[in-house]
Amino acid sequence: MLSDRVQRIGFSSTLRIAAKAAQMVKEGADVIDFSIGEPDFPTPSNIKDAAKRAIDANLTKYPPNDGVLELRQAICRKFKAECDATYTPDQVLVSTGAKQSLYNAALALINKGEEVLIPAPYWVSYPQIVNLAYGNPVIVPTREENGFRVTTEDLLRHISSRTKAIIICNPSNPSGSAYPAAELQKIVDLCMAEGIFIISDEIYEKLVYDDFHYVSLASLGDKVRENSLVINGFSKSYSMTGWRLGYAVGPKEVIEGMSKIQSHSTSGANSIAQWAAVEALNGPQGEITMMRDEFERRRNYVLTRLAQIPHCTCYKPEGAFYVYPNFSWYYHKSHDGVEIRNSAGLAYYLLMHAHVAVVPGDSFGTDEFTRISYATSIENIEKGMNRIEAALAGLGG
Ligand SMILES: Cc1ncc(COP(=O)(O)O)c(C=O)c1O
Repeated sequence: MLSDRVQRIGFSSTLRIAAKAAQMVKEGADVIDFSIGEPDFPTPSNIKDAAKRAIDANLTKYPPNDGVLELRQAICRKFKAECDATYTPDQVLVSTGAKQSLYNAALALINKGEEVLIPAPYWVSYPQIVNLAYGNPVIVPTREENGFRVTTEDLLRHISSRTKAIIICNPSNPSGSAYPAAELQKIVDLCMAEGIFIISDEIYEKLVYDDFHYVSLASLGDKVRENSLVINGFSKSYSMTGWRLGYAVGPKEVIEGMSKIQSHSTSGANSIAQWAAVEALNGPQGEITMMRDEFERRRNYVLTRLAQIPHCTCYKPEGAFYVYPNFSWYYHKSHDGVEIRNSAGLAYYLLMHAHVAVVPGDSFGTDEFTRISYATSIENIEKGMNRIEAALAGLGG
């Protein structure tokens, strides 16, 4: 009965763990949730007030399919101010979350059988979005010792005559790693030379630490801007996950193609959320800095705790709100006669025996690792790390 399209995609093990954790909480268990993909802060009050004003001003009708002009102008101003990049409002498409921006992009760019390079670890939805567009995801492994950043050598091994595009996540979900300018430039030069279109998912761009100098793809010159899309959104930087708002900027032709697709699916993003987003971009940024500083404090704490766990390595991430430790030493150890075989097994063990929910690395194409989100209070992080430490010690660590 189901279409071929649906059969090209599957559920990830993330959902199984999340469902189990939800069931345990319902039954009264005290589960520490490190699987969270959203900031634990409320949306800043100036943004919420702007939404209330939009409702009172009856800005409650269908908005333009591409996004309200004031928001697209604010996005253009952001790129001018931060990247010295000139985009015009007809090069911006506002969508129902960065996820829809990515989906629109895949449908607008990819023909059946064309290949899209996806460095692993990757955000769970990238391969699935490419599959839904009848493209072929080509997974490019990276290395922990290299900060999980893809290199030109890695890419050269996977480029073929069918390669159409690459999806780069910078900073990365799940690893938190971000590209220093020189490394990004090398990859971009190779893609430009090979005619590979770049989709740069920059949704975590505001969450970078230790004075890391973040470089957006948009700042790398006209040729790059003509052959790439920058995807961004309000979910992570402005703690607006529930408002469902993201955007893409790029060449007019591609944006127009994406706009056509959007016009026949959602007819544009929520009007009230868009007016709130105008305030997010144009209003004071103090709360954003406060959230960033708090995430940095938590990252440092969780890294200190991981460093005390025997046989565990963990890359010090430049951004996002995840750490991505390698717990693979604990695979093939047993508890109560049950062998932990992989990241899903370890996540299940941590949930059942430590009451901590984490996301197994196999969801991101790298089974040696486990994603821990620190988008929760420092008290929860301390409690959760105590439990993980004890549970791993129980496996002989
Ligand atoms: C890397 C990455 N891209 C895109 C998204 C989707 O964001 P949105 O809430 O704007 O759809 C997420 C959300 O988890 C993400 O982690």
